[in-house]
Amino acid sequence: MTPIDVTPIAAPGRTPDGAVPQTTEPSIFVIFGATGDLAKRKILPAMYELHVHGLTDRGCIILGVSRDAAMDDAAFRAVVRDAIPKDSGAQSDIASWVDANIYYQPVGNGEPGDFAALKTRIEGLEHDHNIAGKRSFYLSLPPEAFPSTIAGLGAAGLNHSAGWTRLVIEKPFGRDLPSAEELNRLVHQYFDESQVYRIDHYLGKETVQNLLVFRFANAMFESLWNRDHIESVEITVAEELGVEQRAGYYEHAGALRDMVQSHLTQLLALVAMEVPTAFEAGAIREEKIKALRSIAPIRADSAVFGQYAAGRIDGKPVPGYRQEPGVSPASTTETFVALRICLDNWRWQGVPFYLRTGKRMARRLTEIRVRFRQAPIWMFRTVSDASPQANTLVITLQPNEGFLLFFEVKAPGEPFRLQRLTLHFDYDEAFKTLPEAYQTLLLDLLRGDQTLFVHADEVEASWRVYAPLLARTTPPNAYPAGSWGPAETKTIVPDREPREPTDAQRTGSEKAA
Ligand code: BG6
Repeated sequence: MTPIDVTPIAAPGRTPDGAVPQTTEPSIFVIFGATGDLAKRKILPAMYELHVHGLTDRGCIILGVSRDAAMDDAAFRAVVRDAIPKDSGAQSDIASWVDANIYYQPVGNGEPGDFAALKTRIEGLEHDHNIAGKRSFYLSLPPEAFPSTIAGLGAAGLNHSAGWTRLVIEKPFGRDLPSAEELNRLVHQYFDESQVYRIDHYLGKETVQNLLVFRFANAMFESLWNRDHIESVEITVAEELGVEQRAGYYEHAGALRDMVQSHLTQLLALVAMEVPTAFEAGAIREEKIKALRSIAPIRADSAVFGQYAAGRIDGKPVPGYRQEPGVSPASTTETFVALRICLDNWRWQGVPFYLRTGKRMARRLTEIRVRFRQAPIWMFRTVSDASPQANTLVITLQPNEGFLLFFEVKAPGEPFRLQRLTLHFDYDEAFKTLPEAYQTLLLDLLRGDQTLFVHADEVEASWRVYAPLLARTTPPNAYPAGSWGPAETKTIVPDREPREPTDAQRTGSEKAA
């Protein structure tokens, strides 16, 4: 991986001018589930990147925690060395960082004695490394392990310290409103909300953060950002990948819980929210919560559920969801969801928000498509009978991060002809490199900035929106892998495939030209 310059990004809790990296305070970062997939793929490499950029220079030691009693510091260090991508830094730097900063502590089955031993280990390491009780606990665990771990930390007195204590909880946060409320109650029994960092990795993506800048630093867009000028908003997260080896989790989750309730809802909240009073966590989260609370009840005929059948991806045959390892042959778990959502508020009344996500779709694509209203009068009808096309702004997150603005121009020469062109901005082109979402989120955690983390009320507001749909009893509609979802999607989303109309679909003089 090419070293990434994260300094020019000014955000809450970060340097305002981006000139000097603001290093973090010396602290201990405790990862539960330290030998798991997420820790190896995302968390540990992101911590190393922060070190490479000098952002943890004042010291941040990592204590890996898992049930594995056979593991020790040396064995865990080998795991960490393997987890850091080889092109992230010089082998000698990786090795010396690992040797100086990585430790391991087993917690067995999480008995009180295990947490007491963990506490003693943390205090010993803090003493050796001169750390003044500044601790992050990252629960990179399956959701069923959250309650006992949170209670174990609390009962051992690990919920507070001489400096600060922060608790990071991965998604999924609950599986419906009652379970999310219950988990929040448990968390709040031991931790204050100001200590809690609920992760949604979409919030760490640059384009998602750029949405705030795009909307609130460019008066041009924000003044059009309402029902008077916007026809519809489409949010699409399409994946080519199938369920892979995650059937154990996915069979009980499905696309509504896995993607819609979390990632798509976060995107929706950022697009729809009102202007916050300040660029800081409290004000931003408050506006997101208000936007979510204004979502009108979703009608049953405004939702389509799908499940992929066998098909082809990139020309290669792939099995259907029910044939995937670990999936029941009679599974009714949805791998695709399309929704039409309306917000009952002054800004968005009458503007449909279309949300769509699926696995094994035609291609990988994550975008927010804002369709503006048509020009009120088609004054070019005497010279061109082509149907007018409204401006569209497409904010893309995947495969490239950036945005496209579609608009009409006159094609040069005769006959008089309109042509659709784009203005585009591409992060890669403009800045070359982008920090990984986890890097951004972990840096914010270490700096104590909660802006990009999900508040308790936000998570509950989101589950409340989808509660009626979670009770679905009808089976999902089949769609072939490699398509844009079930045919039924057409009943609620204007274009089954998110795209601009091609020239061939345009009429009249343009087509003739
Ligand atoms: C995860 C979901 O949260 O997000 C996965 O559990 C999904 O099912 C993934 O594949 C998508 O993330 P990204 O960043 O690749 O769009």
